[in-house]
Amino acid sequence: MIDNNKFPNDFLWGTATSSYQIEGAMDTDGKGKSIWDTYSHTKGKIQNNDNGDVACDHYNLWPKDIKLLKELGVKAYRLSISWPRIFPSGHEKAPNLPGLDFYSELIDNLLENNIKPFITLNHWDIPQGLEDIGGWTSRDMVDAFVKYSYYVSDNLGDRVKSWITHNEPWCISYLGYIQGQFPPGLKNNWLKSLTTAHHLLLSHGMSINEIRNNSKDSEIGITLNLSPSTPASESTYDVEACKFYDAQFNRLYLDPLYKKSYPEDLFDSLIKKRLIKRSDINFLKPGDLKSISQKTDFLGVNFYSRAVVRNNDISEDKNLPIEVTLKEKTDFGWEIHPRSLYDLLIRIKKDYPIEKIYITENGCAYNDVPDKNNIINDSKRIEYHSAHINELKNAINDGVPCEGYFAWSLMDNFEWCEGFGKRFGFIWVDFESLKRTPKQSFFWYKNLIENNGKEI
Ligand code: FCB
Repeated sequence: MIDNNKFPNDFLWGTATSSYQIEGAMDTDGKGKSIWDTYSHTKGKIQNNDNGDVACDHYNLWPKDIKLLKELGVKAYRLSISWPRIFPSGHEKAPNLPGLDFYSELIDNLLENNIKPFITLNHWDIPQGLEDIGGWTSRDMVDAFVKYSYYVSDNLGDRVKSWITHNEPWCISYLGYIQGQFPPGLKNNWLKSLTTAHHLLLSHGMSINEIRNNSKDSEIGITLNLSPSTPASESTYDVEACKFYDAQFNRLYLDPLYKKSYPEDLFDSLIKKRLIKRSDINFLKPGDLKSISQKTDFLGVNFYSRAVVRNNDISEDKNLPIEVTLKEKTDFGWEIHPRSLYDLLIRIKKDYPIEKIYITENGCAYNDVPDKNNIINDSKRIEYHSAHINELKNAINDGVPCEGYFAWSLMDNFEWCEGFGKRFGFIWVDFESLKRTPKQSFFWYKNLIENNGKEI
């Protein structure tokens, strides 16, 4: 239950989606293949072998979706641009105009409805043609991203005033090259993972001036998925593993962005474990950290859960018993721990000079289905958002400069490796008929927005 105390008057209530997860129209109007097209068509990579060929068919049904956004009453909407709609292979000199036109019309309509667009330039679906030259492990990606950012901001920058360069670099770098769950699906390749993280950060920094020049008076930031981490016990093994986790998950991105340095303890520990060599770090060139730490206007924070870290290199009989009791989990298996959002925000405020934060994603997967009256009573989703918004308000009261909250997600969509099996939306989507039906959470959020964060 959210306390009666209100959020700041101009607080931005929004929802978020991303191109590959909702658009479909995989080869319409000159769009090229993205790495997610390739990956989802590789047998065995996605639950149920689902793919985003059609997804929510937002590419064709967007007028309906804007009506739903309007009905929901959001003040802002975070969407991403599909890079291969703009540069089909990534290598073209000039952009594909029908791709730009699609987003231009969508943005005009959002603005006509008084909804502020927040654009993410890279929400993972990079052109396959760029993956073919090495993807993010190649330094050439920096120029490719700067060119793409230039053309998108040149075209939309008169109307779009909020820009996010990348979404969750950790997922691209770690899930793509260590865990092997995301494209390109490599495992335990720390050199490629770190190089990828570095090129993502560098391309972020290098694109800022281009975007600023094209989009006057705009705000520019990057979105990180961040998570507080707690050792599973007080053993030195778990404490050490937890420190490593924090370094590779949070500090690997926050430190270069805000402190102009990489966490040396992370590199030292990878070298000690013989996972990289000191000479591998030569992906870092003179001047790079200066470019990465260019001043931005905000940090986007995606928050879902906390991490309880156990040292898996130590056999259980040598370690102390696990002391942390896990709370209830969502259908995704992620623990529900709203207080961690508060802790995370307070920690960021303490450790980094960040002037403005947006929660660019927060949400939960629950597979509630329509009942016989076609009502979708997703009460657990309501509880999840309510509890997190309450902790966010506590953090704001304690001085955290957060100016907006984007719920993930407007509607059920293609949840990456989970396919259509995990539903995060305020709107139920029937993936056969593509019919949209607002869930109870939709009406709850609408009411919350009308009352600026107060639950009535
Ligand atoms: C985040 C992604 C987003 C969505 C949610 C559930 O990591 O940014 O696209 O899949 O998780």
